[in-house]
Amino acid sequence: MSHTVNPPAPLIAPERTPASTERPEAPTSYESCFAIPQSPAELREHQARYLAMPTYQYGIPARLLFWTAGKVFPQGRSFEFFAFVELVARVPYMAWEHVGHIAQTQNHRDHEFDRKIQDRVLLARDEQDNEFWHLLIMEEICEKAGYRRRWFFDRVFPQLLSVIYYHLSWLLYAVRPKWSYKLNSDFEDHAMRQYAAFVDEHPEFDETPWESAYRGDYGWHVTVGDMLRQVAWDEEQHKAHSEDFIRRGARFSRRNG
Ligand SMILES: [Fe+2]
Ligand SMILES: [Fe+2]
Repeated sequence: MSHTVNPPAPLIAPERTPASTERPEAPTSYESCFAIPQSPAELREHQARYLAMPTYQYGIPARLLFWTAGKVFPQGRSFEFFAFVELVARVPYMAWEHVGHIAQTQNHRDHEFDRKIQDRVLLARDEQDNEFWHLLIMEEICEKAGYRRRWFFDRVFPQLLSVIYYHLSWLLYAVRPKWSYKLNSDFEDHAMRQYAAFVDEHPEFDETPWESAYRGDYGWHVTVGDMLRQVAWDEEQHKAHSEDFIRRGARFSRRNG
């Protein structure tokens, strides 16, 4: 008679093999300053840094936004929550692109100035696209998991909020660009920490292969854990760009663009 024998449980937990220092293959169908996948070892270092960072002083509009998100997603960090985050995350970049084009129109005789504004427009587009891949990735995971979208909170509400957020970002950028950049850096800081904490809470993500239709667009990360860490790292780059504009003068200038 045959019977199966379960292998004895190890007395000591096996040591985790050190994360690879090799960077995964970059996206093949998308060129961007964000299309440089970090190695698993680099991503773990970034994550540890985010988890250890001192708290960030969020402004009132950002705190209101996070509070609202907390009410709509009482389950907290989850793929459906991140799908919402990514839908909203693209909005300031759309608004900035729009304001940049208006400024170019108003200064169309000053070619040198218009060219400098174009650099900001291109960065805003690139960040918008990067958030778009994040969004598709989160949506894809929700779909595969069979998440049942709530008609109002998962469909209508994020779009309503995006409209409000777009106009707020646009208005702040037109009146005082620094405020718009600050709101975005708050948002990005929050997103970065949420992703880092989410991976930390789910060690099984490091054992889950990331199978996705978007690997050719986003980078060939092997596990869900590394893909999420890469998203967190992207958010840090977005935050750094906004902070950089605050430092060097948020308003369009003939000297700095
Ligand atoms: Fe994002
Ligand atoms: Fe972002």
